[in-house]
Amino acid sequence: MSTDDASAPSDTHAGASRVPAHIAIIMDGNGRWAKARGLPRAAGHERGVEALRRTVEAAGEIGVRYLTVYSFSTENWRRPAAEVNALFGLLRTFIKKDLGRLKKEGVKINVIGRREGLPDDIAMLVEKAERETASNSDFVLNIAFNYGGREEIARAARALSADVASGAVLPSDVTEEVLASYLDTADMPDPDLLVRTSGEYRLSNFLLWQAAYSELVFFDVLWPDFDRAWLEKAVAIYSDRERRFGAVSTGDA
Ligand code: IPE
Ligand code: IPE
Ligand code: MG
Repeated sequence: MSTDDASAPSDTHAGASRVPAHIAIIMDGNGRWAKARGLPRAAGHERGVEALRRTVEAAGEIGVRYLTVYSFSTENWRRPAAEVNALFGLLRTFIKKDLGRLKKEGVKINVIGRREGLPDDIAMLVEKAERETASNSDFVLNIAFNYGGREEIARAARALSADVASGAVLPSDVTEEVLASYLDTADMPDPDLLVRTSGEYRLSNFLLWQAAYSELVFFDVLWPDFDRAWLEKAVAIYSDRERRFGAVSTGDA
């Protein structure tokens, strides 16, 4: 398999186990975590940020290069305004509090999703976080905020059609690679491993294009309780899976 194959494995070998180069996480279950404790849903989201901090640190330490986390979907606008505001507030606080540290630690921050429709101050904070960490390359933290897989693909198709209309791209040149280069994840490997917490078994519009060959792992744990041990468990499960990318098993060829 050539290395420029779109679905070629990108993981690395650390010791005996395979470490995924790119892990994507659907951080779900904050509301149920709070409800179980008689707390408001916002308290669950706050504890969810703590779990995110632990996970970023652990992922870097185990040798993961890209971590993409789903923190607000294009469908989450359907929630009560107070909850939407609380989630926006948490992104603000996270960038304000953690940017300096993440920058020093070599983390490159990237926010994927639709920028239009976000409050101006959030759009500015996001740009600042991206600008100030642009030269980092040790670890990429992709925050999917106001993100929806279908919206991302439609936006990419719109930009690509504009380039076709202007003559910059020929219709016959539109390949998978070209379309992928218009997505928010252009130049990044596809996620090797996609984890969802909270016992729900669906993608909820996350990375629809990029997850074509991701290994899926579902855990019952609620996101605020997620920690390094859960991340290691996901990596161990991943490392026991055989990724075939449509081919036959090694040894059966
Ligand atoms: C995930 O937790 C965070 C977001 C979707 C923003 P939820 O808020 O969805 O928690 P549950 O699924 O209601 O428990
Ligand atoms: C997916 O979780 C979105 C995020 C984790 C940000 P949801 O809780 O919104 O998904 P559904 O509604 O259960 O599918
Ligand atoms: Mg949920």
